Amino acid sequence: MAGDDLINDPYGVYQRLRSASPVHRITGPDGSPAWIVTRYDDVRQALQDSRLSLDKRHSTGGYAGFALPPALDANLLNMDPPDHTRLRRLVGSAFTPGRIQRLREPIRKTAEQLLDPLGQHGRTDLIASYAAPLAITVICDLLGVPDHHRVDFRGWTHALVAPDPARPAATREAVAAMLGFFTELLADKRRRPADDLLSDLIGVREASDALGDDELMSLAFLLLLAGFENTVHLLGNAVLALLRHPRQLALVRENPALLPGAVEELARFDGPALLAIRRFATEDLVLGGVTVGAGQTVLLSLAAANRDPERFEDPDRLDIGRTATGHLALGLGIHYCLGATLARTETEIALATLFARLPDLRVAADVEPRRRPSLRSRSLTALQVDY
Ligand code: HEM
Repeated sequence: MAGDDLINDPYGVYQRLRSASPVHRITGPDGSPAWIVTRYDDVRQALQDSRLSLDKRHSTGGYAGFALPPALDANLLNMDPPDHTRLRRLVGSAFTPGRIQRLREPIRKTAEQLLDPLGQHGRTDLIASYAAPLAITVICDLLGVPDHHRVDFRGWTHALVAPDPARPAATREAVAAMLGFFTELLADKRRRPADDLLSDLIGVREASDALGDDELMSLAFLLLLAGFENTVHLLGNAVLALLRHPRQLALVRENPALLPGAVEELARFDGPALLAIRRFATEDLVLGGVTVGAGQTVLLSLAAANRDPERFEDPDRLDIGRTATGHLALGLGIHYCLGATLARTETEIALATLFARLPDLRVAADVEPRRRPSLRSRSLTALQVDY
């Protein structure tokens, strides 16, 4: 794949790929082969196809994503039924709508507190001062990570999601640090259980053998990584998109009731997950008219599907008034984002609070927003704004 183009202009590249052919053979980020699927109907169907497995044991050597030690790897995004069904049910029962609902007020308070030190006018990097600390606080509150245990996860997640080829040791170091962090955190929670999601999961682990040790640790890791990473970047991308579309922003400012629909459209327009998790064909199958061999890797481009003109009219236009439901930014099928309600709630509150508090917000004219080089994730590392 044209790496640089794909990072700087993923939608342009995907548009060309999509019009040329529905499915392409490409070279994955590690140099090994994969198929990439770009049309909405094909991606939607493939997300629900049980012949596409997330379990690496079905891979016959194509691109397989990053390798983690077993204590972090036994997670939902590497599993098929029946293990996936069992684990998802366990975590789902701790991830109740009531628990998310109770987070609304704390999310709003945290957002306000982060904006307090900014004052009325000035310049700030909104990723560092707002999006990242908000997402860290919310996911730590949900999981029940005590204050003294909270760290800025950005360094670790960056090393995993966008590894620097010049520093291969950085990823290993980040993985070791994360393992240490979770081992200590879970020991701490065992000693002092509270009303939070991790304590609930530890309760399940101790009451039965329905949840293994590696599975518990991997689940904590996945929730933290998925809950933090994607939220920061959905929020960052959403703020940038609205600041670059002042008429759309004015509509949201005038009528905050439009926000829930706007969040759907913003997720469709520039969601953080460009690709779904890699999948492996368990048998020869036909996808978009192309035969994919058993064991080969399939990458589903959520970004390309969400900009498919066959599904969304004038897809490159941000239009918060459109009905964007049916977008695939949060996946679909059995692996549909577990944190979808939290993601929506958090983004909505974060945008509402930000735009209410900083009426003059604009992208700093002399500093380009910085993007992280990654084929998987569409993410800003810095967003300088004036207000
Ligand atoms: C804010 C924006 C978010 C986006 C765009 C997003 C996106 C996604 C996508 C696309 C998938 C499906 C991956 C696939 O099938 O290949 C997924 C799964 C998942 N997400 Fe999210 N996510 C977000 C927030 C969250 C949050 C806040 C949490 C948790 C607190 C979370 C936890 C998960 C988990 C655990 C899965 C795996 C579910 C399974 O395999 O059954 N996500 N997410």
